[in-house]
Amino acid sequence: MNLVDIDDLTREQLHDVLDLAAEIKAGERGDSPLADQTLAMIFEKPSTRTRVSFETGMTQLGGHAIFLGPDDIHLGKGEPIKDTARAVSRYADFIMARLFDHADIVELAEYGTVPVVNGLTDDAHPCQTLADLLTIREQFGGFDVDVAWVGDGNNVCQSFVLGAAMTDIDLTVATPEGYEIDESVRNRAAGLGNQPAETNDPGAAIAGADIVYTDVWVSMGQEDRREQKLRDFDGFQLTTGLVDDQPVMHCLPAHRGEEITDELLESDNAIVWDQAENRLHAQNGLLVWLSEQ
Ligand code: CP
Ligand code: NVA
Repeated sequence: MNLVDIDDLTREQLHDVLDLAAEIKAGERGDSPLADQTLAMIFEKPSTRTRVSFETGMTQLGGHAIFLGPDDIHLGKGEPIKDTARAVSRYADFIMARLFDHADIVELAEYGTVPVVNGLTDDAHPCQTLADLLTIREQFGGFDVDVAWVGDGNNVCQSFVLGAAMTDIDLTVATPEGYEIDESVRNRAAGLGNQPAETNDPGAAIAGADIVYTDVWVSMGQEDRREQKLRDFDGFQLTTGLVDDQPVMHCLPAHRGEEITDELLESDNAIVWDQAENRLHAQNGLLVWLSEQ
């Protein structure tokens, strides 16, 4: 079983992972469920939360994590991804990878013989969605909420769209024209029974929402599109004026002064630190759950 995107899980499995995460967070599971197990962590892109939360999580669960940065292994350079997948699977009990091309995590998962977890690609960020759902459930006691996504229809947005579809969250996605979610994601959400509403008007999305969620406009690897994107996203910045006193989520890192103001991020509306903490708990739940499959 792999987690290439959040809809690799069934609805029931998603709730099981979240329940297990909550149990582990509450200290209700025994010590060292992953004793003697190793997580190989492959990173083509930088990371603060994903790297530290997975590595800390493995320590908490009684196992061990190995950090493999872009210059540490042969992945995609000295040897094909499928060879890395098969070799690393002979040593480690899990592989987590943060890669550029989504096709590469699909290949890693296809050839890996241990669970492969997507730690972010250009198209998806399912571990972020697990943490987001855990956070929303904690804050609202369930998923009967209206969420407004304001910004880029990017990797974080796309996995959240699918996670929202699987939990019946009422989601409105507001992007500038040309930055909408992929058609394939829209179709998958529809197949899960809950396609998001879409608009190019951030104010309309925010009106009546229980939560407002944003992410950077310039994702890792898009630096050469920066000037164009800053122009195209004019009017989409979350400010204390635009947000109507709702809780604000952000997967972080935040680019203050671009998608969100420093004032709003530092305000009591921002629940971003609880959200960031939940990366650890959600992933602990995921890893233990995967080990039991
Ligand atoms: N949200 C998230 O994945 O953060 P990092 O890039 O710091 O891992
Ligand atoms: N959309 C951002 C998320 C970072 C966690 C990026 O891909 O850079």
